[in-house]
Amino acid sequence: MQSVADCAAVPLLEQESINKLMGLAVFGEKVASKIYLLMADLKEEFAPLLTKFARMEAQHGGWFLDASRKNGIEPDKEFADNELGYLISQVDQHYADKNFEALAIVQGFIVESLAIATYESFLPIAHKYPGTHEVFQKALDEENYHVDWILRYLRLRFFDAHEEFQKLAEYANIQGIDCIGGTMMNIAEYLDKIGMSGADCAGAMMDGYTQLLEKVGFEQRRATKHVVNMFMPLFHKYRRGEKTK
Ligand SMILES: [Fe+2]
Ligand SMILES: [Fe+2]
Repeated sequence: MQSVADCAAVPLLEQESINKLMGLAVFGEKVASKIYLLMADLKEEFAPLLTKFARMEAQHGGWFLDASRKNGIEPDKEFADNELGYLISQVDQHYADKNFEALAIVQGFIVESLAIATYESFLPIAHKYPGTHEVFQKALDEENYHVDWILRYLRLRFFDAHEEFQKLAEYANIQGIDCIGGTMMNIAEYLDKIGMSGADCAGAMMDGYTQLLEKVGFEQRRATKHVVNMFMPLFHKYRRGEKTK
């Protein structure tokens, strides 16, 4: 197994990048865990299951932390707090409004989608960090399981009420996508540094998100239009932002 001393030879920028990305993974899992606990608190009938999901998310964070330590990676908490703060304040607001569905949408469509897109993209380069492939693959399998549950819940809850669902998805997701999509733009250079593709990650997230909408009952064209409508202002904003730098 590669030792911490071996990792000291990794160029600084690559080291900084993996510290930031692992920070997002470790502390993002804490956010995921928190959201499931808040959801459990709002719907008693699902509390045992959602509390279990919260424990699974906390465990993912623990696995990533252990794997980081074994590879000389220091998850960057300050960076993660800064990127995730905006999302956490939205989550707190949905909880204060007792809006279980909005929390389910943010969790299923934003938090889980981001985890799935980044963990899938990480797997091909995981061999560079011994012990990470196994835990990211396990976490990925469990995130897919969580998404399946949320989709099933939303499909039943909004059966024959697609307009209502679309309004809620727009309400809950536009801000969420602004936050997470912005984070994806911000981390693109770090992804590149460790050999991941920012474009692949963003593409995987948009594609995954579209498929989620289809599974809840949107027709493909409508789902695509909905996703483009939500993501395009973000791309414009960041492209304009890049040009003015
Ligand atoms: Fe997780
Ligand atoms: Fe999950």
